[in-house]
Amino acid sequence: MAKKKMSEEDWRALRFEATSLFTPSTPVTTADLFAGRQAQILKLLDVVGERGRHAIIYGEPGVGKTSIAQILRLLVPVKTSTVRYIRKQVFSSDTFSGIWTDIFREIHFRADIGEGPREYPVSDLYTAGVTPADVVRELSRFSENDIPIVVVDEYNLIQDPDTSRLMAETIKALSDEGINATVFVVGISDNVRDLVSGHESIIRCSEEILMPRMDQEEIRDIIEGRLRRLGMSIQGDGKWKAINLTKGLPAFAHGLGKGAVLSAIRNRRLEITEGDVDHAIDEVLNSSQNSLKADYQLATHSNQEKARYRQILMACALAQSDEVGYFTPKQVEEPLSAILKKETTVEAFNNNLKEFTEEKRGRVLHRQGTARIYRYRFRNPAMQPYVIMKGIRDGFLDDGARIALSRPEQSDLFSSGH
Ligand SMILES: Nc1ncnc2c1ncn2[C@@H]1O[C@H](COP(=O)(O)OP(=O)(O)OP(=O)(O)O)[C@@H](O)[C@H]1O
Ligand SMILES: [Mg+2]
Repeated sequence: MAKKKMSEEDWRALRFEATSLFTPSTPVTTADLFAGRQAQILKLLDVVGERGRHAIIYGEPGVGKTSIAQILRLLVPVKTSTVRYIRKQVFSSDTFSGIWTDIFREIHFRADIGEGPREYPVSDLYTAGVTPADVVRELSRFSENDIPIVVVDEYNLIQDPDTSRLMAETIKALSDEGINATVFVVGISDNVRDLVSGHESIIRCSEEILMPRMDQEEIRDIIEGRLRRLGMSIQGDGKWKAINLTKGLPAFAHGLGKGAVLSAIRNRRLEITEGDVDHAIDEVLNSSQNSLKADYQLATHSNQEKARYRQILMACALAQSDEVGYFTPKQVEEPLSAILKKETTVEAFNNNLKEFTEEKRGRVLHRQGTARIYRYRFRNPAMQPYVIMKGIRDGFLDDGARIALSRPEQSDLFSSGH
């Protein structure tokens, strides 16, 4: 294919398009920019199809819970029906009545109160507050041709015990009555029980949908799908480096992808090199709006030359972990030995791990379990890729490990078996 010469105006347009395609801080809103998640989509579609069934979508911060809840309405196969989608983002001060008043504001009814036929929000009918019975009644009024989906997002922020109890009772009642509306409860949590404050009734009528971190293929889709739209491409080494560094967190695929694309465009290239990815890493690390930077400083600060906080935290970030991010002190030994270039055992750094869970170091790690079987993880998952990138910049990886990072099969650099 003959390459057409790009004018300065073309480059400017390309740059503009790139900044709109990569969205590190907002959920995805169009189906064709949404990558992977086929298994979760199928489950959610079944839930929407089945009367009386609802869903609880839970997982770590930033894995894409809001995005999937948002995108689903575009994926429901509609023939003659219409999806009625309402999303309510909960605030910690919200009560049951407040949550549903907001939702009712988005539902309209037609009436003629002497001003001619007009549309009014249902919330106008409930100025004195909303009860569970009101919710069941209003949600049963949708026409047979409507597919109502109500998303209650950030559910973990609900503080008031009455609110979570009433929400559970309401969803149970919607289910018992076979109302043709689907409620998605969405929130940050390791498990469903914590998210719904132990209310079994809501669990029994809901599908539990864990949003795991994304696998390499899905992360690759995020980057390559967008590059394809821009008519750009990326070389293997740079591509795998970016993919491996995200640790399955889609926001970093957006952040690194955007940085690398803009770097290539600045150099008037349509092909992205590993150098562009390195440039993107620097940008992510230096971005001043990035609260991770300050958190990292707090976690690793020290007046002592010999202190090894940065190396130990890097080793934690590289440690083999389970599907919700927990690792054991033992799993830190191998990467730390590689970073320090000398055999290092748990005794040498166990106290430092504990310090990382304390206020003084910003509680960068969270600890679970009891003595001897403690497990740790990063309190904020985004800290994990940040720490790895910072460690690379600070020269904590030798050439071998750095090269390994740019290979497809190398998602866990120091895990045994390699
Ligand atoms: N399937 C996907 N394809 C492409 N990008 C995605 C996908 N899922 C999530 N993202 C991107 O990842 C980032 C986080 O997504 P989102 O806000 O949906 O996560 P979340 O789990 O709701 O986060 P939080 O826990 O903070 O509410 C956003 O930048 C979003 O654009
Ligand atoms: Mg969200």
